[in-house]
Amino acid sequence: MHKDRFIDKTFDMFWETEVPEGELIISRTDLRGIITYANETFAKISGYSVDELVGKPHNIIRHPDMPKSVFKDLWDTIQKGKKWEGYIKNLRKDRGYYWVKTEISGIYKDGKLVGYKSMRYRMSDEKKKQMQNLYDRMREDEEGKVRLVVYTKKEVYQKLKELAYKNGKDPVDILEEAILNFEYI
Ligand SMILES: Cc1cc2nc3c(=O)[nH]c(=O)nc-3n(C[C@H](O)[C@H](O)[C@H](O)COP(=O)(O)O)c2cc1C
Repeated sequence: MHKDRFIDKTFDMFWETEVPEGELIISRTDLRGIITYANETFAKISGYSVDELVGKPHNIIRHPDMPKSVFKDLWDTIQKGKKWEGYIKNLRKDRGYYWVKTEISGIYKDGKLVGYKSMRYRMSDEKKKQMQNLYDRMREDEEGKVRLVVYTKKEVYQKLKELAYKNGKDPVDILEEAILNFEYI
């Protein structure tokens, strides 16, 4: 594990990139979800180049806030040949995020399903808040995972990072272990 991941990138995950009004993110995939086409807006908003996106699985932009069941529903729907509509929080290359209203449907050739296409739009701040709350609850119910933001003294954080690097672990693992091993008197 590379230690720069924590030093330089920890805070990038709080930055939102907004899809400009009237702009459309477009992608196409094969039947397994490997990206076969990405437009310039997709590249710009996700922070990747078009070349970096094409050929990669679409989960390259999967955000840890997204509950698994949302993608299960997405795949169940499109594999039946139906259109899926929903809201997705995506991960940028720099670990920031962007929200999109999404429509995914099949691409047909001579009546046969050969891949999928998606169109993604800007969504309102109100809807983002609503979906963040819903997905937080779903993730907690389904996977037992909650998000935690901690303010702590610089020295404590420094110590935590040192302990983590020495043991080749993520600072969060060290915190978890400390709490699990804590003996109440
Ligand atoms: C056309 C198409 C577009 C997709 N768009 C996204 C997307 O914007 N963000 C995302 O996380 N997953 C998207 N997915 C779903 C991913 O393929 C994948 O299922 C998801 O990221 C969850 O990852 P996992 O299946 O490895 O758990 C898309 C799938 C298809 C077929």
